Order: sequence, then C-alpha cells, then structure tokens
Amino acid sequence: MSNSRTNISGKGVHKMHIQPADRINKLPRYLFAEIDKKIRAAVEKGVDVIKLGIGDPDQPTPDYIVKRAIEEVQKPANHTYPPDEGLTEFKEAVAAYYKERHNVELDPEKEVCVLLGSKEGIAHISACFVNPGDLNLVPDPGYPVYSIGTMFAGGDVYRMPLLAENNFLPDFSAVDKEVAKKAKLMFLNYPNNPTGAEAPPEFFAQAAQFAKENNIIICHDQAYSEIAYDGYKPMSFLEAPGAKEVGIEFGSLSKTFNMTGWRLAYAVGRAEVVEVLSRYKTNIDSGTFKAIQYTGVEAFTNPAKDEFQAEISKMYQERRDVVVNALKEMGIDVRAPKATFYVWAPVPKGFADSTEFVSYILEETGVVVTPGRGFGEHGEGYFRIALTVDAERMAEAMRRIKDALAAGRP
Ligand code: MLT
Repeated sequence: MSNSRTNISGKGVHKMHIQPADRINKLPRYLFAEIDKKIRAAVEKGVDVIKLGIGDPDQPTPDYIVKRAIEEVQKPANHTYPPDEGLTEFKEAVAAYYKERHNVELDPEKEVCVLLGSKEGIAHISACFVNPGDLNLVPDPGYPVYSIGTMFAGGDVYRMPLLAENNFLPDFSAVDKEVAKKAKLMFLNYPNNPTGAEAPPEFFAQAAQFAKENNIIICHDQAYSEIAYDGYKPMSFLEAPGAKEVGIEFGSLSKTFNMTGWRLAYAVGRAEVVEVLSRYKTNIDSGTFKAIQYTGVEAFTNPAKDEFQAEISKMYQERRDVVVNALKEMGIDVRAPKATFYVWAPVPKGFADSTEFVSYILEETGVVVTPGRGFGEHGEGYFRIALTVDAERMAEAMRRIKDALAAGRP
C-alpha cells in the first residue's frame, strides 16, 4: 500500500509514519491496564464483575483529610507552582512521622524528596543512577515498574526469585558475584506485593550489609507498611543498622490513607540519593500541587490517623479471613498474610498456568483476580486476590469461585 495521497493542488502528500522509540516497542503491556480492558469488556456484556485485581482501596479518603484539601484548594496562594524541592511543611510532617512511627531521624530538607506517587519515583530512580548496560537487582515476582524503569534507563534486570521455600525473601548468597559487583540498584518491597510476605528485622540488616559490600543502592518500597494484622507492626528498612547509608525508602499515602488518586508520596533516606532524585525531578516535572501536599501534612499530623489506620487494618483483616478460609475449604494451600491487602495463592490443579486460571475465573464467575505471571516468571503458578471489596462481596466472590471449581471445567 502506498504511503502517498494526492492533495487538491495535485501535489503528493506524504503520510508521516509514526515510529515509537525502541524502548517503547520493548514495553510489555502494563499488567493493570490489560486487566482493566478485560473488566470493561465483561461489564459491557452485563456481567456483575467483582474486582479483586488492582490494589486500589475501595474506601474513601478520611474526612479529616478531605476537609483540609477543600480549605487548601480555596487559597489562591496554593494555585502557583510548588517549590521545586517540595513544601517544607510536608517534608517536616514526613520526618516527624518517621520519628514517631519508626524512631528514625530524618533531615527534612536533605533526606526527604516529595513525589507524584511512589510509582513515579520508582520509575525515575533508575534514570538517576543507571547507565546503559548497568544492572539492577529486581525481586521476581514484583511490582512491574521496578523492571520497566530499569529498562527505560537502558539497564538490564537481574531477577532475584522470591520463593515460597525462602518465605518470599531473596537469597543474597545466590546472586552471582560478578552480577552483585556490577549492580547499581536493588529493589526490595516488604510487606511484599504481590506475595503478602513480611521481612524479619535481620533480613533488612543482611540486605544493608550485602548492599554495602557491593556498593549497591537499595530502593525499598514500603507502600503497605500500615496495613497489618494479628498485632504485626512492619518496620521501616531505615530502622536496620547501616540502612540509611546504603539506600532510600519509598513511602506513599495511597494505600495508607486511601489516596491512590491524589498522587502523593515521598522518598526518604541517604541524602545524596535523595538529592540526585530531586535534581532529576526538578528538570522533568513541576512538583505536586501545594494543596495536596498540605493534605499530606494533615494525614500525618492529625491525631485521628491512629484510629483510622487501626480501623482499616481491622477491616482488611476481616476480608483476609473470609478469603483465606474459603480458599482452604477449596483445598487451596494458602498462607494468611500478616500485612498488605493481598492474598497470594497457588493456582489450583487442572490449569496450565495462572493466565488460564484467571481467564477461566473471569469468564465463569465475573471475579477478577491477577495472574501471578504478570509479576514476573517466578510468579507463575500463583494468583493474587486484592482485598478491595467488603466482606460480604468478598464472600460472594469466593462462593462463585468455589462453585466454578466444583462444577469442573467444561
Ligand atoms: C497493585 O495492584 O499492585 C498496585 O495497586 C499497583 C500500584 O500501586 O500502582
């Protein structure tokens, strides 16, 4: 087929060919965007879909935060560009929270960087430190953005398997010595998405030691630290001996305060790493709306936060119990997570892989869960349930899955 047409003056018009950069062509389809497409197709067919795919809290942002947001949005002084380095008030609130919650001292001006959600910071940190051909150590299964950011920076991904037999912790002694020497960044994430695993304190100390020996910057993703059960209180990576020397921690208001849509997060830790990330961001974005940063101050400093956090953990724990008990009744050998709002379960026998199981469940029951393969090759054989509907609807989802499995596949 020709690329040319003839215009009204008779001259040929060349139809421009749009060619994305190689890095775009190499991009995998984004896991949650793909799931969303399947949901829309099912809804259009009139299916009563129960969404347990993306980890997006179903409960609203607490009133005390919304009220502050309304006040701040009404102030014209907040309508201009925010300071490049982020609002001092927000950075001080993050530092005060770390002191209160983790007994970690942070210098708000040097050790806190304000982010447009931690996905943004995680995506950009590789561009700050990785040269083409460098390596990053990435947990597998893991949040897809660790690998995507690495690839966009021209780096290569070395996958650290998270296996059930190792409680879904990476085994640093299994990392090839040459790889460890070459690695620039190591991503970690506990409490863990997608496996729901927690890290014991000695694990963070070992990670810091491994990073120091090999000159690797640790990027710890702590998005789920405030959703915890059975009296468990997740620690910050920065509490571990030597941690602040070797890395940073990404924290987010998204899951902690039901604020996924507001896009407010932070990176804290080693000052030089925070400085490079802040400098990079100054050159490519204009920061977070000041009114939103003030809502972050409110979220962290209002005494209502403790009660709110206890309530949401209690709510998710009830849902977790519904799911774990139901899966066990179905004969699925599942571990009750102590934190995060995810249940990570093995794919039942009779299915070729997690994608086949998830498609079957969606078609037969209208319940959306995430295939483990979407989080990396070592996620194969598992599926993830997000605890993002109320306990009654959760029980309904489990009933539908149980009936579909009992009926047997056509
Ligand atoms: C997830 O479902 O894994 C998360 O919600 C994705 C995210 O936080 O961007």
